[in-house]
Formats: sequence, structure tokens, C-alpha cells
Amino acid sequence: MNIHTFANQQELNEAGAGIIIGLIQTKPDAVLGLATGGTPVGIYEELVKSYNKGRVSFKSVTSFNLDEYVGLPEDHQESYHTYMKHHLFAHIDLPAEQIHIPDGNAADAEEECNRYNREIEKAKQIDLQILGLGHNGHIGFNEPDQSLVSGTHLVELQPETREANARFFDSIDDVPTQALTMGVGTILKAKTILLIVRGADKAEIVHRALTGPITTELPASLLQTHPNLVVLLDAEAGRLFV
Ligand code: F6R
Repeated sequence: MNIHTFANQQELNEAGAGIIIGLIQTKPDAVLGLATGGTPVGIYEELVKSYNKGRVSFKSVTSFNLDEYVGLPEDHQESYHTYMKHHLFAHIDLPAEQIHIPDGNAADAEEECNRYNREIEKAKQIDLQILGLGHNGHIGFNEPDQSLVSGTHLVELQPETREANARFFDSIDDVPTQALTMGVGTILKAKTILLIVRGADKAEIVHRALTGPITTELPASLLQTHPNLVVLLDAEAGRLFV
């Protein structure tokens, strides 16, 4: 495990984007696993800047998003389809047919999860999986539980997760109660995992996840078993690692 702590957000953003760009430069047809939420926004901004300067092209890249809410129209301003368009896809040359996001409006959620798993299998291996971290230790939307699911599946979002995401909606009642998420098995199969954590409010959970017991009650703790885990922390999130 490689843990890097950054004094400011800009340095963290540039380092995160640098890892992604370095991968694409050595492997133009890289398969990226992408996250949403507040955490990766600054990194996506850096990717767009580099693309605009001609330093990187995404034309042969394939992407798989971690998750999507169930029941939000695809063009809803808080759907992860909209988020990805807004923060990244509308600004780079990644072809639409190489972008994958679970369909949270599929009539049959189980069939949609199976379809998503098959698409990931077709791509062979995710080269780099970007992850944020939930306050409750979730990765993707794999919430703490007595057991975890390996592949893409339907989840009930925990109250803590809905509360954390309420900041993006008019009220907590508007936050969906379910999501489709890649499973922990799929996440752990990625060649490299890039975990990014920001903020004092996540200092304790990231420290427990990476140094405490490995348990399904803290899904991110399973990342300790990954042979190629890179962790980028801002100074606040990294304060317990000194
Ligand atoms: C997002 C995702 C979630 C978030 C996590 C942190 O696709 O899967 O696990 O990474 O909830 O969210 P933020 O970054 O908003 O604090």
C-alpha cells in the first residue's frame, strides 16, 4: 500500500490526474473505473485541462462507473449519468460507446446488474479503479454489512449515506433509497486501485479502514488485501497517519 498525503487540494488533484494520464500514455486503451461524488471533481478538472492542452486523449479508453441511483431519470441533475457528463465526458474525446454506467431505471434491476457484470468481464480487467470513501466506510455503494456481494447488485442506501448525499438535493426526501453498485469482488479485481480521501470528517474512517481489522462492517478495509493500492489523502484526512 502506498499512502501519499498532500498539503493542498491542487497538489492532490494534479497527482491523481497524473496517475491516470500516466496510465493512458503507456496504455492508450486503458480500462478506467470511475467514481462520482465530491471527491474526484478536482481530479476530473485536471484531466479536462490536460486534454485541452493536448497532453492526453481518451479516444481508446473504456470506462466503467461504480454506481448509479435507482429511479432518478438519467437526465436528472443529480444522476451519476449527468454528473459524469458535466464533470468529464462532455469535455473529452471518450467515445460514448466506450462509456458504461449502470442503468438505474432498468425495468429488471437484476438483469441490468448481470448485463453490467458481463460488460466488465468483456473488458477483461479494470486497469485503474478510482474510489472515494463513505463516512461509514463504504466503497462504491457497498454499505457496511455482515456480508458483501461480489458483483454488481442492487443496494438499499443506509441513512448515513442518504444524509451525506442530501447536500446535492433539495431535501433528504429527494435522495433515492436504492442504487446499483459494482460489488467489492469486482473492485478488488482491478489491477490498481486509487483511493482518494479528503477532509477531517474522514480522517478516522480512512485510518481504521487501512490499519484496523479487515471486516465487511467496514467495506473499505478489504482494500488492505489488494496488492496494488495507492491512497491519496489531503492533510486533514491523513492526520492520523503520522
Ligand atoms: C461514488 C461512490 C461513493 C463515494 C463516497 C464518497 O461513485 O461510489 O462511494 O465515493 O460516497 O462521496 P464524496 O466524494 O461525495 O464524499
